[in-house]
Amino acid sequence: MRAMTLMVSGLVMAAAVAVHAASPNDVATARQKNFKQIGGAMKAASDTLKSPAPNLATIRASAATILSLAPKVPTWFPAGSGIGHVSVKTGAKPEIWSDAAGFKLAAANLLKAAGDYKAAADSGNMDAIRAKQMALGMTCKGCHDKYRQKDD
Ligand code: HEC
Repeated sequence: MRAMTLMVSGLVMAAAVAVHAASPNDVATARQKNFKQIGGAMKAASDTLKSPAPNLATIRASAATILSLAPKVPTWFPAGSGIGHVSVKTGAKPEIWSDAAGFKLAAANLLKAAGDYKAAADSGNMDAIRAKQMALGMTCKGCHDKYRQKDD
């Protein structure tokens, strides 16, 4: 319960960061922090899935974190917060805005896959969890390949 309360207050704080992110630099920094959280959750799940006895609680926590953040992804990219517009390091390519429909679709794919993964995690079926976690990972890659510049 305490862990849950801490987690919830963490989420509230993360939301507050987004709301008060005024400058484009702050927007980019907050966005990267949020993606790091998503990345950490994916890694925790991948790591435990490699072990002989995967920890279902870890998987469920990762799924909950990712599904809580996935709907917000489109709000992390206001115009003017990408490469060439901010002085902090960013991998947000201009295509995010020049191909806004494609980017929106990539974010929708993430949200759908995050929902499927969460449902599988809730069911506890390891085969389904593996399949949905892999499918989720493909949606990360699908967006990154087009819209994220890795070597910055
Ligand atoms: C709709 C597009 C999109 C999807 C889907 C997406 N990402 Fe990203 N991600 C980005 C972009 C763009 C950046 C670069 C942001 C920046 O540098 O400002 C990024 C950056 C990151 C980073 C680096 C953050 C840092 O330290 O700067 C990580 C880690 C990451 N994403 C993980 C993930 C994972 C894991 C998933 C899938 C569960 C995912 N992303 C799905 C677009 C996406």
